[in-house]
Amino acid sequence: MSHTPIAHVPFALHGEELRQAVIAYAANPIYRDNEEWENADNPYHRQLRPQVLPHLDFDRVPARDRALEYSSLAAQRILTSIYEADLVFFPKAGLGELNDDFRAYYSPGNRARGELIRPALERFAFGFLDEEVEVSGTWDQAGLETYLESLDVDATGHASLAEQAILNSSDPQRAARMWLIQFAPDFLSEASPMARNVLGYYGNTQSEWFKIVIDEYGYGVHDTKHSQLFERTLESVGLSSELHRYWQYYLVSSLAMNNYFHYLGKNHEHFFRYLGALYYTESTLVDFCRRATSLLDKVFEGQADTRYFTEHVHIDQHHGRMALEKLIKPLIAEHGDQIIPELVRGIEEFRALSTLADEDFATQIAWMDDGPRYKELHGPVHRAILDGKVTAPVAHIVEPFGELSNTHSHEGDELCHIVSGTMRFVSGFNSHQILEAGEGTVIQRNRLHGAIIESHECIYQIHSVGDYQACLS
Ligand SMILES: [Fe+2]
Ligand SMILES: [Fe+2]
Ligand SMILES: [Fe+2]
Repeated sequence: MSHTPIAHVPFALHGEELRQAVIAYAANPIYRDNEEWENADNPYHRQLRPQVLPHLDFDRVPARDRALEYSSLAAQRILTSIYEADLVFFPKAGLGELNDDFRAYYSPGNRARGELIRPALERFAFGFLDEEVEVSGTWDQAGLETYLESLDVDATGHASLAEQAILNSSDPQRAARMWLIQFAPDFLSEASPMARNVLGYYGNTQSEWFKIVIDEYGYGVHDTKHSQLFERTLESVGLSSELHRYWQYYLVSSLAMNNYFHYLGKNHEHFFRYLGALYYTESTLVDFCRRATSLLDKVFEGQADTRYFTEHVHIDQHHGRMALEKLIKPLIAEHGDQIIPELVRGIEEFRALSTLADEDFATQIAWMDDGPRYKELHGPVHRAILDGKVTAPVAHIVEPFGELSNTHSHEGDELCHIVSGTMRFVSGFNSHQILEAGEGTVIQRNRLHGAIIESHECIYQIHSVGDYQACLS
Protein backbone atom coordinates (compact mmCIF):
# COMPACT_ATOMS: atom_id res chain seq x y z
CA MET A 1 0.00 0.00 0.00
CA SER A 2 1.67 3.14 -1.14
CA HIS A 3 1.59 6.56 0.40
CA THR A 4 2.74 9.54 -1.56
CA PRO A 5 4.90 11.98 0.39
CA ILE A 6 2.89 14.71 1.99
CA ALA A 7 3.01 17.83 -0.09
CA HIS A 8 3.57 20.95 1.91
CA VAL A 9 0.30 22.78 2.38
CA PRO A 10 0.66 26.08 4.21
CA PHE A 11 -1.45 26.34 7.35
CA ALA A 12 -2.53 22.69 7.21
CA LEU A 13 -2.79 21.14 10.65
CA HIS A 14 -0.90 17.94 11.36
CA GLY A 15 -0.93 14.95 13.65
CA GLU A 16 -2.76 15.11 16.94
CA GLU A 17 -3.68 18.75 16.40
CA LEU A 18 -5.49 17.81 13.20
CA ARG A 19 -7.20 14.83 14.81
CA GLN A 20 -8.54 16.94 17.67
CA ALA A 21 -9.67 19.69 15.30
CA VAL A 22 -11.61 17.21 13.15
CA ILE A 23 -13.26 15.78 16.27
CA ALA A 24 -14.15 19.30 17.40
CA TYR A 25 -15.75 20.12 14.04
CA ALA A 26 -17.88 16.97 14.03
CA ALA A 27 -18.96 17.39 17.66
CA ASN A 28 -21.71 19.73 16.43
CA PRO A 29 -24.98 17.85 17.18
CA ILE A 30 -26.18 18.26 13.56
CA TYR A 31 -23.47 15.78 12.50
CA ARG A 32 -24.55 12.89 14.72
CA ASP A 33 -25.86 9.58 13.42
CA ASN A 34 -29.42 9.48 12.20
CA GLU A 35 -32.05 7.06 13.45
CA GLU A 36 -33.52 6.88 9.94
CA TRP A 37 -32.01 6.02 6.56
CA GLU A 38 -33.04 9.33 5.05
CA ASN A 39 -32.92 12.94 6.21
CA ALA A 40 -36.44 14.36 6.16
CA ASP A 41 -36.38 17.90 4.77
CA ASN A 42 -33.46 19.02 6.89
CA PRO A 43 -30.56 20.44 4.83
CA TYR A 44 -28.44 20.98 7.97
CA HIS A 45 -28.23 17.36 9.15
CA ARG A 46 -25.27 15.55 7.64
CA GLN A 47 -24.18 12.30 9.28
CA LEU A 48 -20.41 12.44 9.80
CA ARG A 49 -20.22 9.43 12.19
CA PRO A 50 -18.23 11.47 14.76
CA GLN A 51 -17.66 8.38 16.94
CA VAL A 52 -15.30 6.93 14.32
CA LEU A 53 -13.30 10.06 13.57
CA PRO A 54 -10.84 9.66 16.50
CA HIS A 55 -9.60 6.49 14.78
CA LEU A 56 -8.96 8.03 11.36
CA ASP A 57 -5.69 9.54 10.17
CA PHE A 58 -6.10 12.44 7.77
CA ASP A 59 -2.48 13.51 8.05
CA ARG A 60 -1.39 11.67 4.91
CA VAL A 61 -2.13 11.46 1.20
CA PRO A 62 -3.74 8.15 0.22
CA ALA A 63 -2.77 6.97 -3.26
CA ARG A 64 -5.43 6.25 -5.88
CA ASP A 65 -5.72 2.58 -4.89
CA ARG A 66 -6.85 3.73 -1.44
CA ALA A 67 -8.94 6.68 -2.56
CA LEU A 68 -12.22 4.82 -2.00
CA GLU A 69 -11.51 3.79 1.58
CA TYR A 70 -13.66 4.85 4.51
CA SER A 71 -11.26 7.60 5.56
CA SER A 72 -11.84 9.20 2.17
CA LEU A 73 -15.61 8.89 2.50
CA ALA A 74 -15.36 10.53 5.93
CA ALA A 75 -13.17 13.33 4.53
CA GLN A 76 -15.48 13.96 1.57
CA ARG A 77 -18.54 14.06 3.84
CA ILE A 78 -16.82 16.60 6.08
CA LEU A 79 -15.62 18.69 3.13
CA THR A 80 -19.15 18.79 1.69
CA SER A 81 -20.38 20.21 4.99
CA ILE A 82 -17.59 22.76 5.14
CA TYR A 83 -17.99 24.00 1.55
CA GLU A 84 -21.75 24.15 1.71
CA ALA A 85 -21.71 26.49 4.70
CA ASP A 86 -21.04 29.13 2.00
CA LEU A 87 -24.35 28.28 0.29
CA VAL A 88 -27.86 29.13 1.44
CA PHE A 89 -30.21 26.24 2.21
CA PHE A 90 -33.67 26.24 3.72
CA PRO A 91 -36.01 23.30 4.26
CA LYS A 92 -38.78 23.08 1.65
CA ALA A 93 -41.42 23.33 4.36
CA GLY A 94 -39.84 26.45 5.86
CA LEU A 95 -37.62 26.80 8.89
CA GLY A 96 -40.32 25.79 11.40
CA GLU A 97 -38.72 23.75 14.16
CA LEU A 98 -35.31 23.78 12.51
CA ASN A 99 -34.18 27.23 13.54
CA ASP A 100 -31.65 25.75 15.99
CA ASP A 101 -30.19 23.47 13.30
CA PHE A 102 -30.04 26.40 10.88
CA ARG A 103 -28.08 28.41 13.44
CA ALA A 104 -25.87 25.45 14.35
CA TYR A 105 -24.89 24.93 10.71
CA TYR A 106 -24.21 28.56 9.87
CA SER A 107 -22.75 29.49 13.25
CA PRO A 108 -19.36 31.26 13.34
CA GLY A 109 -18.02 28.37 15.42
CA ASN A 110 -19.00 25.73 12.86
CA ARG A 111 -17.55 27.77 10.02
CA ALA A 112 -14.32 28.60 11.83
CA ARG A 113 -13.77 24.99 12.90
CA GLY A 114 -14.37 23.93 9.30
CA GLU A 115 -11.88 26.42 7.88
CA LEU A 116 -9.28 25.24 10.37
CA ILE A 117 -9.31 21.65 9.06
CA ARG A 118 -10.11 22.36 5.40
CA PRO A 119 -6.52 22.68 4.03
CA ALA A 120 -5.47 19.38 5.59
CA LEU A 121 -8.62 17.59 4.42
CA GLU A 122 -8.23 18.97 0.89
CA ARG A 123 -4.69 17.66 0.77
CA PHE A 124 -5.92 14.29 2.04
CA ALA A 125 -8.84 14.16 -0.40
CA PHE A 126 -7.27 15.47 -3.59
CA GLY A 127 -3.54 14.99 -3.01
CA PHE A 128 -3.50 11.73 -4.98
CA LEU A 129 -4.25 13.71 -8.12
CA ASP A 130 -0.72 15.12 -7.95
CA GLU A 131 0.56 11.60 -8.59
CA GLU A 132 -2.12 10.67 -11.09
CA VAL A 133 -1.71 13.68 -13.32
CA GLU A 134 1.47 14.66 -15.08
CA VAL A 135 1.54 18.03 -16.84
CA SER A 136 5.12 18.66 -17.81
CA GLY A 137 6.98 20.44 -20.57
CA THR A 138 6.39 23.83 -22.08
CA TRP A 139 2.98 24.65 -23.42
CA ASP A 140 1.84 27.15 -26.00
CA GLN A 141 -1.54 27.83 -27.62
CA ALA A 142 -0.89 25.48 -30.54
CA GLY A 143 0.05 22.69 -28.14
CA LEU A 144 -3.09 23.34 -26.13
CA GLU A 145 -5.27 23.19 -29.23
CA THR A 146 -3.75 19.88 -30.32
CA TYR A 147 -4.27 18.55 -26.82
CA LEU A 148 -7.91 19.70 -26.68
CA GLU A 149 -8.62 18.07 -30.03
CA SER A 150 -7.09 14.83 -28.79
CA LEU A 151 -9.67 14.78 -25.98
CA ASP A 152 -12.39 14.20 -28.55
CA VAL A 153 -15.06 15.79 -26.36
CA ASP A 154 -17.67 15.53 -29.12
CA ALA A 155 -17.30 11.76 -29.41
CA THR A 156 -20.66 10.07 -29.22
CA GLY A 157 -22.24 6.95 -28.02
CA HIS A 158 -19.95 5.09 -25.61
CA ALA A 159 -21.87 3.99 -22.55
CA SER A 160 -19.77 4.48 -19.42
CA LEU A 161 -19.19 1.67 -16.92
CA ALA A 162 -21.86 3.23 -14.72
CA GLU A 163 -24.40 3.31 -17.54
CA GLN A 164 -23.61 -0.28 -18.49
CA ALA A 165 -24.00 -1.29 -14.85
CA ILE A 166 -27.52 0.18 -14.80
CA LEU A 167 -28.57 -1.41 -18.08
CA ASN A 168 -27.16 -4.81 -17.06
CA SER A 169 -28.39 -4.65 -13.47
CA SER A 170 -30.80 -7.23 -12.11
CA ASP A 171 -32.89 -4.21 -11.05
CA PRO A 172 -32.24 -1.41 -13.55
CA GLN A 173 -34.76 1.00 -11.96
CA ARG A 174 -33.16 0.65 -8.53
CA ALA A 175 -29.73 1.12 -10.08
CA ALA A 176 -30.92 4.20 -11.99
CA ARG A 177 -32.38 5.73 -8.81
CA MET A 178 -29.08 5.08 -7.02
CA TRP A 179 -27.39 6.84 -9.97
CA LEU A 180 -29.65 9.90 -9.83
CA ILE A 181 -29.05 10.10 -6.08
CA GLN A 182 -25.30 10.39 -6.79
CA PHE A 183 -25.92 13.57 -8.82
CA ALA A 184 -28.03 15.26 -6.15
CA PRO A 185 -25.11 16.92 -4.27
CA ASP A 186 -24.09 18.58 -7.52
CA PHE A 187 -27.34 19.17 -9.41
CA LEU A 188 -29.58 20.44 -6.58
CA SER A 189 -27.21 23.34 -5.94
CA GLU A 190 -25.97 23.37 -9.52
CA ALA A 191 -23.48 26.04 -10.50
CA SER A 192 -22.90 27.14 -6.90
CA PRO A 193 -19.19 26.25 -7.05
CA MET A 194 -18.99 28.04 -10.41
CA ALA A 195 -20.55 31.15 -8.90
CA ARG A 196 -17.52 31.40 -6.60
CA ASN A 197 -15.61 32.64 -9.65
CA VAL A 198 -17.88 35.52 -10.66
CA LEU A 199 -17.07 37.69 -7.66
CA GLY A 200 -14.25 40.17 -7.90
CA TYR A 201 -12.83 42.34 -10.67
CA TYR A 202 -11.03 40.80 -13.60
CA GLY A 203 -12.23 42.27 -16.83
CA ASN A 204 -14.30 41.06 -19.75
CA THR A 205 -13.95 37.34 -19.04
CA GLN A 206 -15.65 37.89 -15.68
CA SER A 207 -18.82 38.91 -17.51
CA GLU A 208 -18.52 35.96 -19.87
CA TRP A 209 -18.26 33.62 -16.92
CA PHE A 210 -21.30 35.33 -15.44
CA LYS A 211 -23.31 34.50 -18.57
CA ILE A 212 -22.76 30.79 -18.03
CA VAL A 213 -23.90 31.13 -14.43
CA ILE A 214 -27.03 33.01 -15.54
CA ASP A 215 -27.88 30.19 -17.96
CA GLU A 216 -27.51 27.63 -15.17
CA TYR A 217 -29.86 29.74 -13.07
CA GLY A 218 -32.48 29.89 -15.83
CA TYR A 219 -32.19 33.67 -16.26
CA GLY A 220 -34.03 34.14 -13.01
CA VAL A 221 -37.04 32.11 -14.12
CA HIS A 222 -37.24 29.57 -11.35
CA ASP A 223 -38.94 26.83 -13.34
CA THR A 224 -36.06 26.76 -15.80
CA LYS A 225 -33.27 26.87 -13.20
CA HIS A 226 -31.27 23.70 -13.82
CA SER A 227 -31.60 22.52 -10.24
CA GLN A 228 -35.35 22.86 -10.63
CA LEU A 229 -35.33 20.70 -13.77
CA PHE A 230 -33.42 18.06 -11.84
CA GLU A 231 -35.98 18.16 -9.03
CA ARG A 232 -38.61 17.23 -11.62
CA THR A 233 -36.44 14.30 -12.76
CA LEU A 234 -36.09 13.00 -9.21
CA GLU A 235 -39.79 13.33 -8.45
CA SER A 236 -40.83 11.71 -11.73
CA VAL A 237 -39.13 8.46 -10.66
CA GLY A 238 -40.47 8.53 -7.11
CA LEU A 239 -37.48 10.14 -5.41
CA SER A 240 -37.62 13.13 -3.09
CA SER A 241 -36.02 16.39 -4.17
CA GLU A 242 -35.19 17.44 -0.61
CA LEU A 243 -31.57 18.45 -0.24
CA HIS A 244 -29.37 15.64 1.09
CA ARG A 245 -32.34 13.44 1.87
CA TYR A 246 -30.18 10.57 0.57
CA TRP A 247 -26.95 11.69 2.26
CA GLN A 248 -26.27 8.16 3.50
CA TYR A 249 -26.34 6.79 -0.05
CA TYR A 250 -23.71 9.07 -1.57
CA LEU A 251 -20.60 7.23 -2.65
CA VAL A 252 -17.18 8.65 -1.82
CA SER A 253 -16.40 9.35 -5.48
CA SER A 254 -19.71 11.16 -6.09
CA LEU A 255 -18.93 13.52 -3.23
CA ALA A 256 -15.37 13.89 -4.53
CA MET A 257 -16.58 14.99 -7.99
CA ASN A 258 -18.76 17.69 -6.50
CA ASN A 259 -16.25 18.74 -3.86
CA TYR A 260 -13.54 19.05 -6.48
CA PHE A 261 -15.27 22.09 -7.99
CA HIS A 262 -15.78 23.63 -4.56
CA TYR A 263 -12.11 22.99 -3.80
CA LEU A 264 -11.01 24.80 -6.96
CA GLY A 265 -13.59 27.57 -6.60
CA LYS A 266 -12.87 28.18 -2.94
CA ASN A 267 -9.11 28.44 -3.47
CA HIS A 268 -8.64 31.05 -6.16
CA GLU A 269 -5.01 30.08 -6.75
CA HIS A 270 -6.70 27.23 -8.68
CA PHE A 271 -8.79 29.58 -10.86
CA PHE A 272 -7.24 28.39 -14.14
CA ARG A 273 -7.54 24.76 -13.09
CA TYR A 274 -11.24 25.38 -12.51
CA LEU A 275 -11.51 26.82 -16.01
CA GLY A 276 -9.96 23.69 -17.53
CA ALA A 277 -12.32 21.44 -15.58
CA LEU A 278 -15.26 23.67 -16.54
CA TYR A 279 -14.42 23.42 -20.22
CA TYR A 280 -14.13 19.66 -20.02
CA THR A 281 -17.29 19.06 -18.05
CA GLU A 282 -19.45 21.40 -20.14
CA SER A 283 -18.13 19.89 -23.37
CA THR A 284 -18.56 16.26 -22.41
CA LEU A 285 -21.94 16.82 -20.76
CA VAL A 286 -23.52 17.14 -24.19
CA ASP A 287 -23.03 13.51 -25.09
CA PHE A 288 -23.43 12.37 -21.51
CA CYS A 289 -26.86 14.00 -21.30
CA ARG A 290 -27.89 12.50 -24.62
CA ARG A 291 -27.01 9.04 -23.31
CA ALA A 292 -28.63 9.75 -19.93
CA THR A 293 -31.89 10.73 -21.63
CA SER A 294 -32.15 7.52 -23.60
CA LEU A 295 -31.06 5.45 -20.61
CA LEU A 296 -33.76 6.94 -18.36
CA ASP A 297 -36.36 6.66 -21.13
CA LYS A 298 -35.53 3.01 -21.49
CA VAL A 299 -35.26 2.08 -17.81
CA PHE A 300 -38.39 3.97 -16.71
CA GLU A 301 -40.29 3.24 -19.93
CA GLY A 302 -40.87 6.88 -20.78
CA GLN A 303 -42.05 7.85 -17.29
CA ALA A 304 -38.92 9.78 -16.26
CA ASP A 305 -38.93 13.56 -16.74
CA THR A 306 -35.69 14.02 -18.66
CA ARG A 307 -35.87 17.75 -19.40
CA TYR A 308 -32.86 18.34 -17.16
CA PHE A 309 -30.79 16.24 -19.55
CA THR A 310 -32.32 17.38 -22.86
CA GLU A 311 -31.83 21.01 -21.81
CA HIS A 312 -28.13 20.32 -21.25
CA VAL A 313 -27.70 18.70 -24.64
CA HIS A 314 -28.76 22.07 -26.01
CA ILE A 315 -27.16 24.58 -23.64
CA ASP A 316 -23.84 22.86 -22.98
CA GLN A 317 -22.91 22.96 -26.66
CA HIS A 318 -22.82 26.71 -26.04
CA HIS A 319 -21.15 26.45 -22.65
CA GLY A 320 -18.30 24.29 -23.92
CA ARG A 321 -17.69 26.72 -26.77
CA MET A 322 -18.07 29.76 -24.50
CA ALA A 323 -15.54 28.31 -22.08
CA LEU A 324 -13.06 27.91 -24.92
CA GLU A 325 -13.65 31.01 -27.05
CA LYS A 326 -14.76 33.55 -24.44
CA LEU A 327 -12.78 32.41 -21.41
CA ILE A 328 -9.79 30.20 -22.17
CA LYS A 329 -8.46 31.98 -25.27
CA PRO A 330 -8.92 35.56 -23.98
CA LEU A 331 -7.40 34.64 -20.62
CA ILE A 332 -4.33 33.15 -22.31
CA ALA A 333 -4.04 36.32 -24.39
CA GLU A 334 -4.14 38.39 -21.21
CA HIS A 335 -2.00 36.30 -18.88
CA GLY A 336 0.23 34.38 -21.24
CA ASP A 337 1.05 30.72 -21.85
CA GLN A 338 2.01 30.31 -18.19
CA ILE A 339 -1.64 29.55 -17.33
CA ILE A 340 -1.91 26.66 -19.82
CA PRO A 341 -0.40 23.93 -17.59
CA GLU A 342 -3.00 24.77 -14.95
CA LEU A 343 -5.82 24.58 -17.50
CA VAL A 344 -4.59 21.19 -18.60
CA ARG A 345 -4.19 20.05 -15.02
CA GLY A 346 -7.82 20.92 -14.33
CA ILE A 347 -8.95 18.84 -17.28
CA GLU A 348 -6.76 15.89 -16.38
CA GLU A 349 -7.64 15.91 -12.69
CA PHE A 350 -11.33 16.04 -13.47
CA ARG A 351 -10.94 13.16 -15.92
CA ALA A 352 -9.11 11.10 -13.30
CA LEU A 353 -11.92 11.75 -10.80
CA SER A 354 -14.58 10.89 -13.38
CA THR A 355 -12.92 7.56 -14.11
CA LEU A 356 -12.74 6.81 -10.41
CA ALA A 357 -16.42 7.68 -9.96
CA ASP A 358 -17.43 5.57 -12.92
CA GLU A 359 -15.65 2.50 -11.51
CA ASP A 360 -16.90 3.15 -7.98
CA PHE A 361 -20.54 3.37 -9.04
CA ALA A 362 -20.40 0.29 -11.29
CA THR A 363 -18.80 -1.69 -8.44
CA GLN A 364 -21.49 -0.53 -6.02
CA ILE A 365 -24.27 -1.66 -8.37
CA ALA A 366 -22.62 -5.09 -8.66
CA TRP A 367 -22.39 -5.18 -4.84
CA MET A 368 -26.11 -4.36 -4.54
CA ASP A 369 -27.12 -6.84 -7.24
CA ASP A 370 -24.97 -9.59 -5.72
CA GLY A 371 -26.50 -9.24 -2.24
CA PRO A 372 -27.96 -12.79 -2.27
CA ARG A 373 -24.60 -14.21 -3.40
CA TYR A 374 -22.69 -12.43 -0.62
CA LYS A 375 -25.26 -13.76 1.84
CA GLU A 376 -24.62 -17.31 0.61
CA LEU A 377 -20.88 -16.82 0.87
CA HIS A 378 -21.36 -16.47 4.62
CA GLY A 379 -21.60 -20.29 4.82
CA PRO A 380 -18.19 -21.29 3.44
CA VAL A 381 -16.35 -18.30 4.92
CA HIS A 382 -17.82 -18.90 8.39
CA ARG A 383 -16.92 -22.58 8.12
CA ALA A 384 -13.32 -21.67 7.28
CA ILE A 385 -13.22 -19.62 10.49
CA LEU A 386 -14.83 -22.37 12.61
CA ASP A 387 -12.44 -24.96 11.18
CA GLY A 388 -9.51 -22.77 12.17
CA LYS A 389 -8.43 -22.49 8.53
CA VAL A 390 -8.58 -18.74 8.93
CA THR A 391 -7.96 -16.63 11.99
CA ALA A 392 -9.27 -13.12 11.87
CA PRO A 393 -9.87 -10.44 14.49
CA VAL A 394 -13.45 -10.60 15.69
CA ALA A 395 -15.77 -8.05 17.31
CA HIS A 396 -18.77 -9.23 19.35
CA ILE A 397 -21.65 -6.80 19.17
CA VAL A 398 -25.04 -6.54 20.91
CA GLU A 399 -27.54 -4.02 19.61
CA PRO A 400 -31.15 -3.23 20.55
CA PHE A 401 -34.21 -3.01 18.32
CA GLY A 402 -34.09 -0.12 15.87
CA GLU A 403 -30.36 0.56 16.21
CA LEU A 404 -29.20 1.92 12.86
CA SER A 405 -25.58 1.64 11.80
CA ASN A 406 -25.27 4.68 9.55
CA THR A 407 -23.71 3.88 6.20
CA HIS A 408 -19.95 3.37 6.04
CA SER A 409 -17.39 1.00 4.54
CA HIS A 410 -14.35 -1.05 5.62
CA GLU A 411 -10.79 -1.20 4.31
CA GLY A 412 -10.84 -5.01 4.06
CA ASP A 413 -13.48 -7.69 3.51
CA GLU A 414 -15.47 -8.64 6.59
CA LEU A 415 -17.78 -11.45 7.56
CA CYS A 416 -20.93 -10.53 9.46
CA HIS A 417 -22.32 -13.50 11.43
CA ILE A 418 -25.66 -13.28 13.27
CA VAL A 419 -25.69 -15.17 16.59
CA SER A 420 -29.27 -14.27 17.52
CA GLY A 421 -31.96 -11.89 16.36
CA THR A 422 -32.60 -10.26 13.00
CA MET A 423 -30.62 -7.69 11.05
CA ARG A 424 -31.63 -5.83 7.90
CA PHE A 425 -28.35 -5.38 6.05
CA VAL A 426 -28.47 -2.48 3.58
CA SER A 427 -26.08 -2.25 0.62
CA GLY A 428 -27.52 0.75 -1.24
CA PHE A 429 -30.74 2.58 -1.96
CA ASN A 430 -33.67 0.13 -1.74
CA SER A 431 -31.23 -2.77 -1.52
CA HIS A 432 -31.10 -5.09 1.49
CA GLN A 433 -30.84 -8.65 2.79
CA ILE A 434 -32.58 -9.96 5.92
CA LEU A 435 -30.10 -11.87 8.09
CA GLU A 436 -31.39 -14.27 10.76
CA ALA A 437 -29.57 -16.23 13.48
CA GLY A 438 -26.95 -18.51 11.94
CA GLU A 439 -26.90 -16.49 8.76
CA GLY A 440 -24.73 -13.57 7.71
CA THR A 441 -23.02 -11.94 4.80
CA VAL A 442 -19.63 -11.18 3.38
CA ILE A 443 -19.02 -7.44 3.31
CA GLN A 444 -16.84 -6.40 0.41
CA ARG A 445 -14.07 -3.92 1.11
CA ASN A 446 -14.82 -0.26 0.33
CA ARG A 447 -18.50 -0.97 -0.39
CA LEU A 448 -21.05 1.32 1.17
CA HIS A 449 -23.40 -0.44 3.60
CA GLY A 450 -25.34 -0.04 6.82
CA ALA A 451 -27.68 -2.08 9.01
CA ILE A 452 -30.71 -1.86 11.26
CA ILE A 453 -31.78 -4.28 13.99
CA GLU A 454 -35.28 -5.64 13.48
CA SER A 455 -35.58 -7.94 16.52
CA HIS A 456 -35.82 -7.05 20.22
CA GLU A 457 -32.06 -7.51 20.34
CA CYS A 458 -29.40 -8.78 17.95
CA ILE A 459 -26.11 -10.40 18.84
CA TYR A 460 -23.64 -10.60 15.99
CA GLN A 461 -19.98 -10.93 15.16
CA ILE A 462 -17.82 -9.07 12.70
CA HIS A 463 -14.81 -11.07 11.54
CA SER A 464 -12.21 -8.93 9.79
CA VAL A 465 -11.05 -11.53 7.30
CA GLY A 466 -9.26 -9.08 4.99
CA ASP A 467 -9.73 -11.04 1.75
CA TYR A 468 -12.74 -13.34 1.78
CA GLN A 469 -11.57 -15.24 -1.29
CA ALA A 470 -8.53 -16.43 0.65
CA CYS A 471 -10.99 -18.17 3.02
CA LEU A 472 -12.48 -20.21 0.18
CA SER A 473 -9.34 -21.78 -1.23
FE1 LIG B 1 -26.55 23.11 -15.95
FE1 LIG C 1 -23.75 24.22 -18.49
FE1 LIG D 1 -19.88 -2.35 8.55
